[in-house]
Amino acid sequence: MGSRKTRPESTAKAPSTRFDIARRAFLERCGRLAAMTGLPLWFIERQEAEAAQTTKLPTPNDRPGIAIVGCGGMGKGDATNASAFGDILAVCDVDEGHAAAFAKDFTVEGKVPKIHHDFRQVMERRDVHVIVNATPDHWHTLVNLAAAKARKDVYGEKPLTLTIDEGRHIVKAVRDHGIVLQTGTQQRSSQRFRLACELVRNGRLGKLQQARVWLPAGLREGPFKSVPVPAGLDWDFWQGQALAADYVTERCHRMFRFWYEYSGGTMTDWGAHHNDIAYWAIGLLAPRDVTAQHFSEPVPGGYNTYADYEVNYTYANGIRLQINTTKDDSIFGERLNPQGQRNGIRFEGSEGWLWVNRDEISASDPDLLRTPLPADAVRLYESKSHMGNFFDCVRSRELPICDVETGHRSATMCHLGAIALRTGRSLTWDSAEERFVGEHAPEANAHVVREMRKPYDYSFV
Ligand SMILES: NC(=O)c1ccc[n+]([C@@H]2O[C@H](COP(=O)([O-])OP(=O)(O)OC[C@H]3O[C@@H](n4cnc5c(N)ncnc54)[C@H](O)[C@@H]3O)[C@@H](O)[C@H]2O)c1
Repeated sequence: MGSRKTRPESTAKAPSTRFDIARRAFLERCGRLAAMTGLPLWFIERQEAEAAQTTKLPTPNDRPGIAIVGCGGMGKGDATNASAFGDILAVCDVDEGHAAAFAKDFTVEGKVPKIHHDFRQVMERRDVHVIVNATPDHWHTLVNLAAAKARKDVYGEKPLTLTIDEGRHIVKAVRDHGIVLQTGTQQRSSQRFRLACELVRNGRLGKLQQARVWLPAGLREGPFKSVPVPAGLDWDFWQGQALAADYVTERCHRMFRFWYEYSGGTMTDWGAHHNDIAYWAIGLLAPRDVTAQHFSEPVPGGYNTYADYEVNYTYANGIRLQINTTKDDSIFGERLNPQGQRNGIRFEGSEGWLWVNRDEISASDPDLLRTPLPADAVRLYESKSHMGNFFDCVRSRELPICDVETGHRSATMCHLGAIALRTGRSLTWDSAEERFVGEHAPEANAHVVREMRKPYDYSFV
């Protein structure tokens, strides 16, 4: 038996001193971070201790080629984030002006990304490996399907789909073609939301009884006048699968989210974020019963999605989820009235409540947050960078934090609410069959799938 070397005492002390210094620096850093973020110290310490697993920026030889499809507001943010991990080689938009501005903004060392009008051409490019899809909601599915068929990985904006039926198509295509798809519900990569969900999942509130989500109210504006289509915009292509309408400025860029033709109002817009967190904490596939009421009518000839509403969901195990709108938040995220009810999520259990949004986390008793979770607690998928997690998975071929199935199920929660609002019926959802059942099923199922205007149907890609 070989003798084991023991460390001489003199050298054994030095590392321990270095360790003390490093440990002190670590604790100080964690204390500062906890003060800055308002997150509990134990959570920050756990986080920092595990920091070795964080996303690594790729080396120059390891940078995938990226195409941005949809060069508008969110496309800019996504493209900027993606450019840390790969090279933007192509930009694509049906509005020439938007594509040209992106080509200029994302020129690096004299290399100008090529401009495309039709995303199907982008899918033919062999140098493009990743598609960032930041088109309006009614285009998400066809762009994502084309990418899957071309075996390109996708960072696809939320909500994943325009209809529940589209979700089944894209889940199947992603699996059939083996691509990675990250849904752009980036709140899952926020430590604040993950902490809230881990606490709920581990029974910190006792038995979870109800989750309450507040979404910004939509807009009640109109009537709008049709005007000539602006130069450089292909309005027919922009409308895609939606019923053709005259051009109205308020239907198009950025404001499309207030029309059922292209989106679902704040129910699917902000709902895609906060319902996704409720879904993560509750951990059940879908609610069973849905009812809804709206409190104001859309202005005739104006935005047609409901602006103020309440939606009530009940899960098979009795947990309730209530969604309300608040007028005190701008739908574009800027806080209008810090004193008012803000958008966010409140979890209510038998032993207390917990409130979380993008700015803060609080609880009925501070100890609910302060007391560390035990070492064997249920842990949720951890990502600190939504785009970074996507590119990690592009390399590893693992499932990203908001994989296509997650994106589909959280979009489904939003679509269920929008359908209950539009029909005004009490509905029952069969989450295994993904169909409504019961008395109002035929009327409600008519909203699960939509007729797509030709040529922009599934045969387009
Ligand atoms: N994750 C988030 O926090 C977040 C925030 C804002 C928006 N979004 C999502 O991003 C998406 C885009 O929203 P936005 O506010 O940036 O809209 P936007 O109108 O500013 O941009 C959309 C762009 O897509 C282009 N486009 C439309 N059809 C196209 C097609 N077939 N091919 C190529 N380009 C096409 C439009 O011309 C426009 O330039 C939406 O789905 C929205 O829900 C996500």
